[in-house]
Amino acid sequence: MTSNISATHAGHWDLGGRQVARLGYGTMRLTGPGIMGPPKDHDGAIAVLRRAVELGVNHFDTSDYYGPYVANELLREALHPYDGLVLVTKVGARRDEEGAWLNALGADELREAVHDNLRRLGVERIDVVNLRMPGFAEPEGTPLEEQFTVLAQLREQGLIGELGVSNVTQDQLAQAQKIAPVVCVQNLYNISQRRDEELVRTCADQGIAYVPFFPLGGFELVDDPRLKTIAEHHHATVPQVALAWLLQRSPNLLAIPGTSSIGHLEENVAGASLRLSADDVATLDAIA
Ligand SMILES: NC(=O)c1ccc[n+]([C@@H]2O[C@H](COP(=O)([O-])OP(=O)(O)OC[C@H]3O[C@@H](n4cnc5c(N)ncnc54)[C@H](OP(=O)(O)O)[C@@H]3O)[C@@H](O)[C@H]2O)c1
Repeated sequence: MTSNISATHAGHWDLGGRQVARLGYGTMRLTGPGIMGPPKDHDGAIAVLRRAVELGVNHFDTSDYYGPYVANELLREALHPYDGLVLVTKVGARRDEEGAWLNALGADELREAVHDNLRRLGVERIDVVNLRMPGFAEPEGTPLEEQFTVLAQLREQGLIGELGVSNVTQDQLAQAQKIAPVVCVQNLYNISQRRDEELVRTCADQGIAYVPFFPLGGFELVDDPRLKTIAEHHHATVPQVALAWLLQRSPNLLAIPGTSSIGHLEENVAGASLRLSADDVATLDAIA
């Protein structure tokens, strides 16, 4: 990889008053298998985080329930005191001992989760906290006012900088906005999963960041002959084209691909510089 690759080549976004490079990083893949336990290669995980910063990444998406606790502990070890970095965590879920993903949306659970994140990350205030609502393939759509009010109170106490929502419908976003400002929405979206086209536009219209989870497809990487053809044409890889497509989709779209590999990290950051033509975009738009 060349040394002039930079996450900043895709431009910046104002995330609640902080400028973040639109190509960020998600910590979920730094843990052990099944997003449980420590990584096989602890030093390698630390090196990935530090290399991300060297490459201009300043937006880190995380959660105390990755590992659990492992991702935040690695972040702290590698990057504390986080000069110039914006940390975004999420609350609303927990893991049991077998690794099952459970809801943790009670008022006390939410307060405890925020305090746990503060302590584990070693900060006095978390830049952004997302309220993660239930559902996986799609949001269940249950009302979120009670939960969001708890986080809004913690924000008023100065423990949280800004608030976001995750795995939500348009209606849930509107519910949250009646309680406190929302700076980001984090939902499932990528080149082949586009249920959220309208929500991406709503967020863009309102100056809210839309931060897709599974930008590369998550556990099943995006794959399509059209992606491969365009990647070959640009001497690029399929993940790079998938990221470039996302970044060209809308200016409020921030990518947070996850990886445990420095090679993949560098590849993804280089993808931020890839410029797709209007014909490429039209071809790729037809995938989903
Ligand atoms: N709000 C939510 O509910 C929610 C849910 C899921 C995720 N998230 C957040 O979103 C972030 C992104 O999602 P994700 O990490 O699950 O999925 P993703 O970014 O779509 O894909 C990650 C997977 O792609 C592989 N990968 C990454 N770069 C690659 C490359 N250049 N070439 C080949 N393979 C590559 C990674 O494996 P290697 O390690 O081998 O590179 C990993 O298996 C997470 O890290 C997390 O912060 C949020």
